[in-house]
Amino acid sequence: MVDIIRARGDYSIAEYIDSEKGTVSRELYVNPDIFEQEMEQIFQRCWLFLGHESQLPNPGDFIVSRMGTEEVIVVRDRNDNKIRAFLNSCRHRGMKVCRYDEGNALVFTCPFHAWTYDTTGSLVGAGFYNRPDASTDTLPRENWGLSEVAQFKNFYGSLWATWDPKAPSFEDYLGPFAESLRHCLQSSDGEDNGLEFFTPFQRHRLPTNWKVPGFTSVTDLTHTAMTHRSSQAAGLHQDRGQGKEKPTIPFPQEKYAIGDHSLGHGGMCTFYNQAGVPQYTNEWFEPGVDDYFRDATERKAQKYVDRVMAPHGWGGGHFAIFPAVMVDSWRLRWYHPHETGMTERWTLSGVDKNAPKEVKDAVRHYSERFNGPIGFFESDDMENWNYVYPASQGARARKLDYFFRNGIGHGKYDDRLPGVIVNGSYTEEAQRARFSRWLAFMEAKSWDDLYPINKSSARRIW
Ligand code: FES
Ligand SMILES: [Fe+2]
Repeated sequence: MVDIIRARGDYSIAEYIDSEKGTVSRELYVNPDIFEQEMEQIFQRCWLFLGHESQLPNPGDFIVSRMGTEEVIVVRDRNDNKIRAFLNSCRHRGMKVCRYDEGNALVFTCPFHAWTYDTTGSLVGAGFYNRPDASTDTLPRENWGLSEVAQFKNFYGSLWATWDPKAPSFEDYLGPFAESLRHCLQSSDGEDNGLEFFTPFQRHRLPTNWKVPGFTSVTDLTHTAMTHRSSQAAGLHQDRGQGKEKPTIPFPQEKYAIGDHSLGHGGMCTFYNQAGVPQYTNEWFEPGVDDYFRDATERKAQKYVDRVMAPHGWGGGHFAIFPAVMVDSWRLRWYHPHETGMTERWTLSGVDKNAPKEVKDAVRHYSERFNGPIGFFESDDMENWNYVYPASQGARARKLDYFFRNGIGHGKYDDRLPGVIVNGSYTEEAQRARFSRWLAFMEAKSWDDLYPINKSSARRIW
């Protein structure tokens, strides 16, 4: 076990987390050996988010996405219309086959020696392959297609993949969060697969370890008042326009920090205590947009008249899917590790696919104001993340620990999300759950040790 870990001599990996004190060693964030082990043990095994089917509407459409530190080509086949994902690395001698971010392809021809792959990843040709002076019998083409992911899932329009054939089904991987994710992929009138996402991916490069945002973003209510103070002061937080109305009809609901220590997912969540959906309140300054969303909410209310919405339903919080996908009521954000101290954050913002243009424009403008390079809110967070890494990795700083103790021991299980610990909104329960699962992955020999969840694989370490 933990052969790769060389730092701190004889430390076992479990000792980097002190469950009594509620602390985590900074080595987990700054040590390249640990990073390498994460790439093998976590990013080669977990279900990872690739994108959304609305980015690939036509046969031959492709996007280049990432799984951990590696690029993958996600492409809709020209014949069977299926979407597949392949490592973006030529089987001949490793050149990046596709150098575009997105487009439509008949085939993918490697720029080096012209090995050529079709949209199922099969090798269909190679440079000078048919010349009489080439030994064509030495290339068994059927064995040299692009490397395809082991499992692929289109979950209500969202695209996921894992390199591990032994990983459980995506639904089992999500556990009690499956219904919540489905809910967040519905349009505002409550229809499944109801969203499309603005393209291309919005990308930010962050000089920090992937766990800094990946394990704390969307689960850290305590940072908001301080970090986003200027945005709040400017009135940019509460509203999308002139100011969000207060609902006149209160809807019974509770907000918690939640963490699934067995599966690693968790975040800030709303439990709804009544069937139906909360009253729509005006929040847009663009004309007609509130009318659209009020009608859509009315149609959703009719669908849910006898049903209680899943926790974190549209508009009700956000949560993280292990290892590093954040699901909001209106966007997906996820973190790609590049190096120990370099991470890319990608964002897709969604909108009802059947909405009229003026509604789509308003939502896109809001997303740009919020998330964009000159946006207000997300840049606040990045400012912290960028400075955490250099301030934590020096010879002195890395000997200290991070504090994750807030609310430890006060959480309780709740029947509404079986297996998930529910704790006060301002606690660090969700972050601790991420580390419980992180440790299980880092120590596991294979998925046999990780799923199904049983007594030995359920690692609630704190
Ligand atoms: S490396 Fe791709 S064709 Fe040679
Ligand atoms: Fe934030």
